[in-house]
Amino acid sequence: MKILVTGANGMVARAVAEYCRSSNDEVIALDRRSLDISSRNSVVEIVGRNTPDAIINCAAFTDVDGAESNEIAAYAANSEGPANLAAAAKACGAKFVTISTDYVFDGTFDGFYTEDDTPAPLGVYAKTKYDGELRAAREDPDSVIVRSGWIYGHGGTNFLSVIPELLKAGKYITAISDSFGTPTFAGDLARRLRELAASDIRGVVHVTNAGEGSTYYGVACEIADLLGIERSCITPISDADLKRPAPRPHSSKLATKRLAELGFDELPDWRDALARFVKA
Ligand SMILES: NC(=O)c1ccc[n+]([C@@H]2O[C@H](COP(=O)([O-])OP(=O)(O)OC[C@H]3O[C@@H](n4cnc5c(N)ncnc54)[C@H](OP(=O)(O)O)[C@@H]3O)[C@@H](O)[C@H]2O)c1
Repeated sequence: MKILVTGANGMVARAVAEYCRSSNDEVIALDRRSLDISSRNSVVEIVGRNTPDAIINCAAFTDVDGAESNEIAAYAANSEGPANLAAAAKACGAKFVTISTDYVFDGTFDGFYTEDDTPAPLGVYAKTKYDGELRAAREDPDSVIVRSGWIYGHGGTNFLSVIPELLKAGKYITAISDSFGTPTFAGDLARRLRELAASDIRGVVHVTNAGEGSTYYGVACEIADLLGIERSCITPISDADLKRPAPRPHSSKLATKRLAELGFDELPDWRDALARFVKA
């Protein structure tokens, strides 16, 4: 397949480009300088010129706290962007796959959210991502909207991605022990995104690694165990202790119900995925 990947310098985009290249796809990986997805004209021109079979949108304004004071930029990337790409994909007959977030839920439910549950986004980042879901589906009803959460991977700069380096460097870290989510390895997510890009599935699907989910503290402890480092290097804290600008869901565990019903295998358990990440 000929696959156009946006946000090419990002963590998930790198994993997607690597996975697709290893599957012998022709990959056109465009960073923000090569394609600003918030510009309708650029998107139409570049997608039209490349005529991909599929577009996997990994570009987004991902600074959850920064979005609270940068609403316009967050809307441009997270709402205008998917709408522009979906319209361009439809015009050239490409399959459009875009990534959304577990943060579309308010987190007041302690179980696993399925695709049947109603989003109630809390902060600006979450609202812009949900808006992007709705607009992509409106522009191209064949779009696939992939909600994932707690993603970590090689080259990632978010907390989960950097824990191994911090612990290996002998740092003492704090990790939230009262927020719950479903950790997802970017390498496994990339495989699923590629499969969805080649499928005739449309609409919202949840994609995470399998298992019961965890807290940030739980993931950090697991990483310490994998590295043979004492868990005492990690201090559990409460989400409230951080006093961050953006509200976040207390529990945003996702169930991958729809893909199971469609006959997809589960992605590996999150502990298995974490072990592969830490050992690589
Ligand atoms: N990481 C998580 O835990 C998590 C959880 C749930 C969902 N997601 C979603 O997963 C997707 C990938 O996230 P990630 O973790 O890979 O994020 P990331 O590492 O921050 O990468 C996002 C990339 O998008 C680029 N970008 C921002 N605005 C753009 C624009 N207008 N046009 C083109 N590119 C633009 C960024 O470029 P600059 O560096 O130049 O800004 C960055 O390279 C996003 O949709 C995110 O919302 C992530």
